[in-house]
Amino acid sequence: MRSLRNGVVKVLIILLVNLLSTECRNPVLHRVGGGRFSWNPNINFTNWSIHEQFYVGDWLYFGFDKLIYNVLEVNKTNYEKCEDKDFLTNVTRGGRDVFNLTDAKVFYFLSGRGFCFKGMKVAVLVKDFSEDQSLEPPHNNQHGDHDLLFTNNVFSSYHYVSHIIIFLAIFVFQCFHM
Ligand SMILES: *[C@@H]1O[C@H](CO)[C@@H](O)[C@H](O)[C@H]1NC(C)=O
Ligand SMILES: *[C@@H]1O[C@H](CO)[C@@H](O)[C@H](O)[C@H]1NC(C)=O
Ligand SMILES: *[C@@H]1O[C@H](CO)[C@@H](O)[C@H](O)[C@H]1NC(C)=O
Ligand SMILES: *[C@@H]1O[C@H](CO)[C@@H](O)[C@H](O)[C@H]1NC(C)=O
Ligand SMILES: *[C@@H]1O[C@H](CO)[C@@H](O)[C@H](O)[C@H]1NC(C)=O
Repeated sequence: MRSLRNGVVKVLIILLVNLLSTECRNPVLHRVGGGRFSWNPNINFTNWSIHEQFYVGDWLYFGFDKLIYNVLEVNKTNYEKCEDKDFLTNVTRGGRDVFNLTDAKVFYFLSGRGFCFKGMKVAVLVKDFSEDQSLEPPHNNQHGDHDLLFTNNVFSSYHYVSHIIIFLAIFVFQCFHM
């Protein structure tokens, strides 16, 4: 009877841990340059980029005058050289254009027509949300608690229940207050 209850509790805890480590975060729209119309040569995009946190599934928004500028995704080499031929993706549509950050990697963008040389280039480091979270110290403490739960058989069911409530509280907090 007791072992059955322990088994159920373990399954519940594993489910909760999985919930905690999967993506429970709404995608964020990042306005490149910080404004609605800030894809232009007057912005320091390096400075903008290092102050933002980009996660897989987030979106970039480029607001610009399409008659003057454009937005091209390029590779690292072409980013460094401001080379606008052989681009990977033409993001340019109407001047209020979005780009889906689908992978955990660095994405590179520039404006062609010479404006890259005036500073219109941006590199965006995209991270996996769950991996990033699990590197944080508070999470490591929680993992320590799980280990204790599994090895310490003298814990009463009261303690299990209180732990589950704490896990649930943390889960709800992480999902709805981030
Ligand atoms: C960098 O960005 C911060 C805020 O994001 C701003 O306060 C600061 O003035 C900027 N610095 C430069 C050199 O653009
Ligand atoms: C842009 O911002 C970065 C990071 O804050 C800074 O190192 C760099 O000097 C700035 N560039 C210009 C041209 O202000
Ligand atoms: C954007 O990227 C996310 C994460 O890869 C994906 O789940 C979503 O379907 C993508 N949306 C579109 C419209 O491509
Ligand atoms: C970028 O693309 C160019 C050709 O378009 C290629 O020569 C170069 O090796 C590529 N660089 C990287 C880092 O993939
Ligand atoms: C990118 O796409 C836009 C809209 O389809 C088009 O007008 C423009 O010529 C394209 N730019 C390049 C460099 O291919």
